[in-house]
Amino acid sequence: MTATSPSRPADPIIALGDVHLKLDSGAGPVHILRGLDLAVGAGQAVGLVGPSGSGKSSLMAIMSGLEAATSGRVSVDGHDLSALDEDALALLRRNRIGIVLQSFHLIPTMTALENVAVPLELARRDDAFAEAAAALDRVGLGHRLDHYPAQLSGGEQQRVALARAVAPGPAVLLADEPTGNLDSGTGQTIIDLMFSLHDERDATLVLITHDLDLANRCDRVVHIADGRITHEEPGRGARPVGGAAGGAGLSGRVVEAG
Ligand SMILES: Nc1ncnc2c1ncn2[C@@H]1O[C@H](COP(=O)(O)OP(=O)(O)OP(=O)(O)O)[C@@H](O)[C@H]1O
Ligand SMILES: [Mg+2]
Repeated sequence: MTATSPSRPADPIIALGDVHLKLDSGAGPVHILRGLDLAVGAGQAVGLVGPSGSGKSSLMAIMSGLEAATSGRVSVDGHDLSALDEDALALLRRNRIGIVLQSFHLIPTMTALENVAVPLELARRDDAFAEAAAALDRVGLGHRLDHYPAQLSGGEQQRVALARAVAPGPAVLLADEPTGNLDSGTGQTIIDLMFSLHDERDATLVLITHDLDLANRCDRVVHIADGRITHEEPGRGARPVGGAAGGAGLSGRVVEAG
């Protein structure tokens, strides 16, 4: 039997090996990721922390196939991403990966309900709109279903983006500063919802945050600096023995809307 440790999971769902990312900017090429190695086990929660500009969002773009690595190995859910074309990458994201970005990327001409229903309809779910309404209710937006993004506050838009990412039940949830625009109470709601997905459905969670306490709720806290993983330590872990932590589950409503 092979020995495993949190940093070398036996069954990685995300495996990055010697990943480099170089992009051209007006001022010349920028070497953003510089030989980055990371393996994330299926069902693990990883908090990714590091200074501004260290490459966290770039790493998320690589893991979701939104950006192609300049060199190195990127495998997600058993797929070598460099071997997939744009259509196959979009399909992988649609079926297996939920993404919450620093900016929300809601579709401005669609209501909150329609925005959340899009990935459910693409996944051919029978009850796409009912599921979307339930997901919005769980983030405290049951009274805002028919509002367009421009009619929602920044924090409300972030909650719609989270509902959209979580509703299809992705195997991998990637979240980039998901609480950056939220008050602490609403932020807690969002965090609880993400950890519920992780706990109850064994979703793999990669959570980028500047909040060390939040990162510590994960199984591992991984530090990135200057485009490389520098070190990691175990987090408190989100799961107490015997199941999910108290508070909000995916099955229940988690917030009283304000
Ligand atoms: N499209 C791009 N072209 C050139 N350089 C870029 C591009 N996108 C990001 N960078 C640079 O790459 C570096 C890493 O950016 P990234 O957004 O990954 O940082 P980050 O760790 O997410 O920071 P923050 O905590 O501020 O969100 C930064 O120095 C940034 O200026
Ligand atoms: Mg960032």
